[in-house]
Amino acid sequence: MKVICTEKSQVLATRVAKALKITVVDVKYSRFPDGEHYLLAGETDDEMVIVGSVVDNDSLVQLMLLIDACDRATNRLVLPYMAYARQDKRFKPGEPISSRVVARALSQGVSEVITVNIHEKEVLKSFSVPARNLSLAGDIGSYIRTLHLDNPLILAPDEGAMVFAAQVASAGGWECDHLEKTRLSGVEVKMAPRQLSAESRSVVIVDDIISTGGTIATAAGMLYQQGAKDVFAACVHGVFTGGAYVRLMATGIRDVICSDTIERSCSRVSAADQIAQALVKH
Ligand code: R5P
Repeated sequence: MKVICTEKSQVLATRVAKALKITVVDVKYSRFPDGEHYLLAGETDDEMVIVGSVVDNDSLVQLMLLIDACDRATNRLVLPYMAYARQDKRFKPGEPISSRVVARALSQGVSEVITVNIHEKEVLKSFSVPARNLSLAGDIGSYIRTLHLDNPLILAPDEGAMVFAAQVASAGGWECDHLEKTRLSGVEVKMAPRQLSAESRSVVIVDDIISTGGTIATAAGMLYQQGAKDVFAACVHGVFTGGAYVRLMATGIRDVICSDTIERSCSRVSAADQIAQALVKH
């Protein structure tokens, strides 16, 4: 068994290979003069683990080409972050179900798919091969424990993220709540924890994805106004689109933490061990 990866998942793929004590196949990635992707894979094995987060359109194309380059092997696909997973419904007529399009495309040429905190578990059913999902909630909880915060409050930005937040909180036996948005006027909203006060407390807002950072920036500002001592933000997938990281830090957030499903300098939690264990268990 060998690991092979797309350009944007090199660090995670190497960590997975190290955990499994196997090698990573060398791949030359380049482009044709017109911008089309090209790649050349080194010597593959009969059993391949293909690691590639879909973080943008280029990484999606590169991943599809990589799967095809490995077409003489039994391929298992590790898809740590799956862009387009949030468009998992036809919210209005005429829209595509984008998650289904991506899932179908990536099912071709692989025998199994492993995702990490996929935005909506229902999306797993759109793959035409068996697909399972891993959760880094416990790993994020373990990381938070290393911060030695005094009685932190773990907050989900909305009710939908509450299950994830509760799993993070259970790693340290901490209290957990979710934010509730109240509209005060046409232009004013208030965001506060539903039941527990943030006053004088260290708060960690946790979510699966930070994209524009808008949700967490607004929440952090309001938590500080309500007397929170420190606010941290943690997520699995640090998309950080359009300067989100900078915007978050400018609100006074003490630190923004994410995992290496998308490789960032603030990727302090790794999905590698869980992925390696899942590959061994299969
Ligand atoms: C949404 O359903 C997700 O769980 C995140 O809450 C969302 O993607 C965060 O988006 P943003 O960072 O743009 O506020």
